[in-house]
Amino acid sequence: MDYNVIILAAGQGKRMNAGKNKQWIELDGMPVIAHTVKVFEQDPWCARIILVGNEREITLLEEFRQFYSYRKIMKIVPGGKERQDSVHEGLKALDDGDSLVLIHDGARPFAAEKDIHALAEKAAETGAAVLAVPVKDTIKHISEGQVTHTMDRSSLWAAQTPQAFRLSLIKKAHEQACTEGYVGTDDASLAEKYNLTVAVVEGDYRNIKLTTADDLLFAKAILRERQEAH
Ligand code: CTP
Ligand code: MG
Repeated sequence: MDYNVIILAAGQGKRMNAGKNKQWIELDGMPVIAHTVKVFEQDPWCARIILVGNEREITLLEEFRQFYSYRKIMKIVPGGKERQDSVHEGLKALDDGDSLVLIHDGARPFAAEKDIHALAEKAAETGAAVLAVPVKDTIKHISEGQVTHTMDRSSLWAAQTPQAFRLSLIKKAHEQACTEGYVGTDDASLAEKYNLTVAVVEGDYRNIKLTTADDLLFAKAILRERQEAH
């Protein structure tokens, strides 16, 4: 099985409040984005990486690629205003419609290879698949400071990345969304909007996205656990 991956690093990391793009925060002496890229450099199923960066950070990313002597980063492309725009830019860099593309957040450094493989296999079969985990909290719908209703937790799952698609399908969904000015919260939601079936593969709670400062505490604990296992 062979896939290409688009890694998104073109955000600003506002909620992290680190005074810089959160991708550059160091964990264990390596920036977050290096932990993320490493997962795919090491996965034998991953053929090519498209790295999408902040316009102002393209030179920095080129230096980063050289410093770590990455072999699979085929292109570094500037992203857009919203995450969806950045994905669209990444998709334009790929052209084999039958191939499988994974779309992954640069700020999600702990995706496990076995989950990536299960996801890729599922998407090869169905055309579209996402990693997700069952929601642990009770989720309430709230309006004007009051609970309107409590959601049925048994049918709620939290979507993660990577999300995997046959390239031609997700390209078409992105192009259509762009034309219509539709903005979805993730790539699967565009596929859903245009009536594609999206399969779910159960992921791992450790595949966190680093969003706010407290996520860094969990990230450090995950890295410590890995070191102790060696
Ligand atoms: N991303 C991107 N282009 C954007 C916005 C986000 O490539 N215009 C990327 C981020 O770099 C991140 C991933 O999408 O790896 C997930 O987005 P998020 O966690 O929201 O990151 P930021 O947008 O950087 O953070 P914030 O929303 O707190 O500003
Ligand atoms: Mg964001």
